[in-house]
Amino acid sequence: MTDNAFSDAERAAVYRAIAERRDMRHFAGGQVAPELLARVLAAAHHAPSVGLMQPWRFIRITDSALRTQIKALVEAERLRTAEALGERSDEFMRLKVEGIDECAEVLVAALMDGREAHVFGRRTLPEMDLASLSCAIQNLWLAARVEGLGMGWVSVFEPQALADLLHLPAGAKPLAVLCLGPVESFYPAPMLVMEGWRSEQPLSEMLFENQWGSKP
Ligand SMILES: Cc1cc2nc3c(=O)[nH]c(=O)nc-3n(C[C@H](O)[C@H](O)[C@H](O)COP(=O)(O)O)c2cc1C
Repeated sequence: MTDNAFSDAERAAVYRAIAERRDMRHFAGGQVAPELLARVLAAAHHAPSVGLMQPWRFIRITDSALRTQIKALVEAERLRTAEALGERSDEFMRLKVEGIDECAEVLVAALMDGREAHVFGRRTLPEMDLASLSCAIQNLWLAARVEGLGMGWVSVFEPQALADLLHLPAGAKPLAVLCLGPVESFYPAPMLVMEGWRSEQPLSEMLFENQWGSKP
């Protein structure tokens, strides 16, 4: 531990939040108090971003009819995804992939318009805007977890349809429907693992030394 490190308890709390964050699809309804919502959104806004472009935009959905329309967009894409999956289609249809109806808050996270003006760090890697938005969403996920709130990232939708529904300007792009709110309990492991959809690979399979494929 260096002089700049957090205390033992603080470090343990941070690692615990990282380990116990889960993508949640089951919610217990309820509400998120305004000051709590402001706190987790501020955590999102503390994220790093390429060239400090801060490309994230969050649209809080408070209109219940709009929430229903978002749910319908997700449902339509869920069916198309099942079709594209072929032999695993039935298995996929049995998975719960969103909690839009039950969660306390729905937030749509989008990339801002006018991103082409931001060249620093993006000339060769334009997708660094998406990476930056993802950092903000991860901050939100972790902040929600320590506050006892679950969050689920839903990406099963046609982005242009959602952009049209929410009147996004040309060039802006929605990348996540975020379901946020109280949960009965957090899954002890990724739900896709618990449901037998996929197993997790260990870090040792993903860590190389000097060259791709060369294990330390
Ligand atoms: C970019 C991104 C998009 C995702 N989209 C969906 C989604 O549409 N529906 C869903 O149920 N889970 C979605 N997830 C959640 C993943 O399935 C989940 O993170 C993964 O299974 C690991 O589980 P954990 O987050 O609980 O550790 C998404 C996660 C990420 C990072």
